[in-house]
Amino acid sequence: MPSLSITLLVDSQAARPGLQTEHGLSFMVQRRDQALLFDTGASGAWLSNAQAMGIPVASVSHVILSHGHRDHTGGLPEAIQACPDARVYMHPKALMPRYSIHPGQAPRTLGLPPLAWRALSPKADHICWSTAPMRIGEGIGLSGPILRRHPQEGSSGPFFLDPEGHEVDPLEDDQALWIHTSEGLVIVLGCTHAGVANTLDHIRKITGESRVRALIGGLHLGRADQERLDFTMEHIRAANVQEVLSCHCTGESVALSHGLQWMKAGDTWGMNPGD
Ligand SMILES: [Fe+2]
Ligand SMILES: [Fe+2]
Repeated sequence: MPSLSITLLVDSQAARPGLQTEHGLSFMVQRRDQALLFDTGASGAWLSNAQAMGIPVASVSHVILSHGHRDHTGGLPEAIQACPDARVYMHPKALMPRYSIHPGQAPRTLGLPPLAWRALSPKADHICWSTAPMRIGEGIGLSGPILRRHPQEGSSGPFFLDPEGHEVDPLEDDQALWIHTSEGLVIVLGCTHAGVANTLDHIRKITGESRVRALIGGLHLGRADQERLDFTMEHIRAANVQEVLSCHCTGESVALSHGLQWMKAGDTWGMNPGD
């Protein structure tokens, strides 16, 4: 097994039979003897799939929430139960009520589901609030809130903080995980509501590492217009990112037409840094 491996536990497509699928995202990050859960999908499907793949979860030390959307936080009850020693890393604004509103349709609640709230409440002393960039281990850390330097990159959706649609949700809680390797940064993304270019720039700045070995996760480009797509892809090229492994809200056709790799639940990316 590689000394760093990142497995997509759940998403809307699976790479093999026997794995559950859903509109939700969850990764298991394994580095030497350390295990971190990055997002929890929309339900307990991440846990069933981890068990089906023989991935141990009881030793998970960190449960990281990329943001509060329910397709990333719905499996929190299972995470809290199955990973009893884990600390939960999240931004306080991940707890805000939030909505998506499509023209002509009723508002849909998108925030932390009630069951996740209920599971989290008695664990308040296990929560680490990621209100700023933070290290969570040797050579591993969280972006904290991401500086939005590039206005071309919005939150890419009809996201609001109120059901009437008056207050646009800037998704301030959006964060990414970075791992420093001998070949550069490995960056794990949830939905990248802050934008790919903004996220890349922010993490390269806070870590002082400009090389990016891999970008892995949801790039939220499924509904992006051509101008935005061109901008983001050019930024990825200019940053000399060695590999992009996309999934979830990237949009499969966007990924494939731009030469990005497309991950499905059950797929693992790995490397042996320093070998
Ligand atoms: Fe999201
Ligand atoms: Fe998402």
